[in-house]
Amino acid sequence: MSSPTLSVVVPCYNEAENIGPMVARLEASLQGIAWEAIFVDDNSPDGSWRIARQIADGDPRIRCIRRVGRRGLASACVEGMLSSSAEYVAVIDGDLQHDESLLPRMLETLRRGEADIAVGSRHVGGGAATEGFSALRSRISDGGKALAQIILPVPVADPMSGFFMLRRDLIEDMAPRLTNRGFKILLDILLSARRKLRVVELPYVFRPRLAGESKLDATVLIEFLTLLLDKATGGFLPLRFLSFALVGGIGLVVHLAVLSQALHVLPFAGAQWLASFVAMTVNFWLNNRITFSDARLRRKALWRGLLLFYVVCGIGVAANVGVASLLLRDELANWGVAGAAGALLTLVWNYAVSATLVWRAR
Ligand code: GDD
Ligand code: MN
Repeated sequence: MSSPTLSVVVPCYNEAENIGPMVARLEASLQGIAWEAIFVDDNSPDGSWRIARQIADGDPRIRCIRRVGRRGLASACVEGMLSSSAEYVAVIDGDLQHDESLLPRMLETLRRGEADIAVGSRHVGGGAATEGFSALRSRISDGGKALAQIILPVPVADPMSGFFMLRRDLIEDMAPRLTNRGFKILLDILLSARRKLRVVELPYVFRPRLAGESKLDATVLIEFLTLLLDKATGGFLPLRFLSFALVGGIGLVVHLAVLSQALHVLPFAGAQWLASFVAMTVNFWLNNRITFSDARLRRKALWRGLLLFYVVCGIGVAANVGVASLLLRDELANWGVAGAAGALLTLVWNYAVSATLVWRAR
């Protein structure tokens, strides 16, 4: 037996009910094509991988990669693609929201050499997102799209799509350069290729989800901005640091928002304390979810980490004020430069200590 022509990589997390129907749909759509499906499950609590294994038991076209102790859509997709020996690889969501009947046309497009990558698109003629994407989510998505266009080497109407196909040798070639974080695998691919990829977008209608629930939330936005920053700066700063800095920026906004409200009822010092605590708590939560998601703290360790984080940030603020005052006193800088230097010092300090003491990240 030789390797199949097409590997369809299906990332899944808690999609137990969708796996059987997914296989049936692939089977129906891919008549006449030598295909295999690779389910990549991050050890879902609902046992999605078990269902995939059961099906694989009676069908050699079905494979399952069970990843333990790791989470992440992008890295799941990449590992799935890299486990393939087929000439072409595709990625499609495991929750039936993408239209699998598009796969043969994607393959045709690539085979005819019309594109390096075929993308299922909700935003070209005939495509659509039917589901009640919440107003906020739509706005975030539109904002993200606009941002992405600025740094993308080629125009793509739906750069957030998680539904696409390309030659495997292309992904093998760029794999070491991929960021591998977050949700935006297509964006990562387009930004990590050494040349402008020729993209063809095929319209499809994004279906409503029938079973299970979406794993995307607001934290995706920060991951997304981190990815853009990383690519825009050519990988100059560590990803983790960028993410930490972005979270810090959000903390600043939270701080000012709380402060402005609290001033109505509290004296300045009290309001400033309250705002600091709220901002630090939000920062801790976001960093735990995103920046240090691979070393995420839970239960008892979570509370210990939060207390430690307060202490670390407290010292950071003291150092900030100290350095800025010194610079001012010795007339080494005006207040703007002194303030910025202090803030930068705090950021670096908070990051260094958080990464080593609070989260013990590798
Ligand atoms: N292995 C693995 N690990 N799979 C995951 C993980 C993870 O950490 N998180 C999500 N998935 C799987 C889900 O089970 C699903 O099959 C697919 O990835 C997409 O996740 P959803 O949670 O259903 O995402 P969505 O429907 O909200 O997002 C859709 O729109 C995005 C653009 O806005 C998807 O099509 C995304 O691919 C797309 O980027
Ligand atoms: Mn979905």
